Amino acid sequence: MIGVIGMGYVGLPVSEAFCSAGFPVLGFDLDDARLAALTRGASYLSHFAGERVTAMRERGFAATGAPDALARADAVLICVPTPLTSHNAPDLSHVVEAAETLAAVLRPGQLVVLESTTFPGATAEVLKPILERSGLRAGRDFALAYSPEREDPGNHTFTITSTPKIVGADSEAERRAACALYDAITVTAPVSNMRTAEAVKLTENVFRLVNIALVNELKVSFEALGIDIWEVIHAAQTKPFGYMPFFPGPGIGGHCIPVDSFYLAWRAKAEGASLKMVELAGEISRAMPRRVVEKTLDALAERGCSPVGAHVLIVGVAYKRNIDDTRETPARDIIEILRSHGVRVSYHDPLAPELMVGDTLMQSVDISRNALAGFDCAIIVTDHDAFDYQRLVRETPLVIDTRNALARTDPALAGKIVKA
Ligand SMILES: NC(=O)c1ccc[n+]([C@@H]2O[C@H](COP(=O)([O-])OP(=O)(O)OC[C@H]3O[C@@H](n4cnc5c(N)ncnc54)[C@H](O)[C@@H]3O)[C@@H](O)[C@H]2O)c1
Repeated sequence: MIGVIGMGYVGLPVSEAFCSAGFPVLGFDLDDARLAALTRGASYLSHFAGERVTAMRERGFAATGAPDALARADAVLICVPTPLTSHNAPDLSHVVEAAETLAAVLRPGQLVVLESTTFPGATAEVLKPILERSGLRAGRDFALAYSPEREDPGNHTFTITSTPKIVGADSEAERRAACALYDAITVTAPVSNMRTAEAVKLTENVFRLVNIALVNELKVSFEALGIDIWEVIHAAQTKPFGYMPFFPGPGIGGHCIPVDSFYLAWRAKAEGASLKMVELAGEISRAMPRRVVEKTLDALAERGCSPVGAHVLIVGVAYKRNIDDTRETPARDIIEILRSHGVRVSYHDPLAPELMVGDTLMQSVDISRNALAGFDCAIIVTDHDAFDYQRLVRETPLVIDTRNALARTDPALAGKIVKA
């Protein structure tokens, strides 16, 4: 039996993969609403259909909030959040709590794998000592490994089972045990120890951070030169080697990219090293929401519209296309900066009906019928497939497009569109 601690964006799909491979899976979580949904065969993630949970249940999946049940598992995968503290330092409190829960029921022969993203050294230095409080020793009584999740919510081309899984452990026997487990669902890529596996995950994410920052920086420079960055990228993409496209946008969001650079920088600093390029990329990316607002206010001013009292519609608040995740979304910064200029802001996102901004809870507004004409401007922050972009341009006086979502709009309407 496989036990999975944390039934979120990572824990749910990994549970499904093991269910499909024929393993009984036990999902452990502290969130009663999530447990209740899983027990009645429903989902709480927009990109993960309820039928998938029903199918998991038919294959023997069960959800529980009872830690004792984890003692029955042969392998326990920890998939809990790893956010930042208010000082942008790693917050491993969920990992610590999960480890304490597990230590109380740990038994000889179990395999424990941390899947949550973390800094190099965390599994050995934070998780292992807590598990060993059970009196059992890693590598002797139980096996310990680190295997980062490469989940990309909403990506239908590459899923867990079609993406190789990095597996790191500090002994050959533990690595073999962990690889044997994951070989049941996908191809494994073993590395020599846990800290290397931890570093692989952060490398993948800071690679994206740096490249997104680069393309955002190029966007600003090319704009000054009268060159359209999107046309440049699409043309550069025709080169079959040595180039990989990254796309500009309103800023970075989600659990991985904005957070992971801090995990790496924090650890590097603690060892007296520095990551100048990563830190600069973070800075460039964090400046993007302000730039979107500046472009919006300039465009409004050109149309004789003062920011004070202007009504702006944010279109899409999830941090990326076709998912409901609003963690670290740049939409939040854009809304706050707009408000600081006296702008009245509403948002529409069919996948994210509510959004906490500062201490206010916003609700997605209905834009059916004639509602769009009441806005002075719309800003496309997230380009969900569900939006009717042509209607948006037709019915709104001004649209700020941060995603090139309006590339194929009727040229007669081009005067209403500002790329940002
Ligand atoms: N979301 C992604 O796309 C993604 C991709 C790759 C890696 N990751 C990493 O995976 C980890 C999990 O992220 P996520 O997006 O799945 O988070 P999430 O918030 O979607 O889910 C985490 C779940 O863990 C539960 N939880 C928290 N503390 C717990 C505890 N002590 N015991 C039991 N359950 C607990 C929460 O209730 C929640 O259901 C993070 O480290 C993240 O960086 C996320």
